[in-house]
Amino acid sequence: MPDPHVEPHLFVIFGATGDLMRRKLLPALYKLADRGRFGEPFKILGVARDANLDDASFRQWAREVLREAGLNDPNEIGRWCDRCLHYQPIGTGDEKVFHALRERIEALEHAHHLPGNRTFYLALPPRAFAPTIEGLGEAGLNRSPGKTRLVIEKPFGRNLATAQALNQLLHRYFDESQIYRIDHYLGKETVQNLMIFRFANPIFESLWNRDRVDSVEITVAETVGVEKRAGYYDHAGALRDMAQNHLTQLLTLISMEAPVAFDADAIRDEKVKVLRATLPLDRPEVVFGQYEGYRNEPGVAPDSNTETFVALGLHIENWRWQGVPFFLRTGKKLKRRLTQIVVRFRRPPVALFEPYPDCRVHANALILRLQPDEGFELCFEVKSPVEGITMETQRLHFRYDEAFGPLPDAYETLLLDVVTNDQTLFVRADEVEASWRLYDPLLEERPPVHPYEPGSWGPPEADHLLERTGRRWMVV
Ligand code: BG6
Repeated sequence: MPDPHVEPHLFVIFGATGDLMRRKLLPALYKLADRGRFGEPFKILGVARDANLDDASFRQWAREVLREAGLNDPNEIGRWCDRCLHYQPIGTGDEKVFHALRERIEALEHAHHLPGNRTFYLALPPRAFAPTIEGLGEAGLNRSPGKTRLVIEKPFGRNLATAQALNQLLHRYFDESQIYRIDHYLGKETVQNLMIFRFANPIFESLWNRDRVDSVEITVAETVGVEKRAGYYDHAGALRDMAQNHLTQLLTLISMEAPVAFDADAIRDEKVKVLRATLPLDRPEVVFGQYEGYRNEPGVAPDSNTETFVALGLHIENWRWQGVPFFLRTGKKLKRRLTQIVVRFRRPPVALFEPYPDCRVHANALILRLQPDEGFELCFEVKSPVEGITMETQRLHFRYDEAFGPLPDAYETLLLDVVTNDQTLFVRADEVEASWRLYDPLLEERPPVHPYEPGSWGPPEADHLLERTGRRWMVV
């Protein structure tokens, strides 16, 4: 069934032969179209520097990409590519080129009776954002007879000042309602579920505060290293690449107040409030690490001091969370691929079982596992059925794959939201700035970077961060 809200549409993708297009965008667009989620006609105009490509060779390239992505109906793929895909070279991207782009867009819209609904998707390296936004704006492509939207990938700025400058440039040509800043974590089903989990289940929400919660841990661990992205990563590091965006989004979703309505602005208002209530980072609560061997990776500077691991202790100074530490960590080449949030509850107020040597009471914990093995677990103490009083920790669990089967890719969700004008899962201008404000001091005066072994959980200093407070990272 076509989505009733998707109107005939032209999708213009800058960086159309790039990595993101190959890995994520093209497969997601194809799958959505295949499931009938786009209204007809629906056209994609790929834009890239390559002057040797044309419609036919771009379609051929796309067919191979879709086949490699495991989409296996060659006839249907071929028909879809021929029907939907077009290509326009952008060369060096000067003013003339944007006028030529405008003519091409208008010609396609005329030929296919499209009403002028356009999405410009900037799947580009960050240095290309500003010239492309200006090029579009100066060519008058910021407005159209229908709806014009602009999608911009991360990283959004390198620090607060550059993020502010990028927002100003965007707002020179586009209204905030036209702008979709991507953080692909927000498109993950398990991340969206954080709000449903919290605000549709009062049993948990009633425990979600400083009276009941001891601490919160957020882990985004990867087993991969820098791979072929050293050119970008060595200048970015884990703080910019993961903490400022993905981890911070998880932090806001787990800690925000209930929005007054389930709409984009009400939700983003609450996320900004929580960021504003977060105290500036205290140096002893920041740990940077670099995996051993990172400096030998192709493209990495031999004396690089870039962090591939970050652990942070954050404090939200509001009525709900005062006194509850939030521990965040992320890193590459860690022991396991794991994204999870652990909400650890306070222990019983009275040590009733202390006289019994086999009765060590562990704190109740709720583990929200965002990937892989998506689901959640509630850990609680149970009396073991043996003589005397002994207890052990057991878990109630829920698994997405058992209940629903495979989950959609984040990009499918996000692309559909763009064409249906839903900004809930996109980052607002003030939100991105509030997040940079938190991390800017660490960029200006960098903490020391500690080495760690690949395949570990990061440098020992990250363990000390919790041990100092009598806690340990929870991995299950
Ligand atoms: C990207 C980062 O935003 O997220 C990568 O740039 C990282 O460095 C990736 O590997 C992780 O995403 P996911 O969806 O695989 O957890």
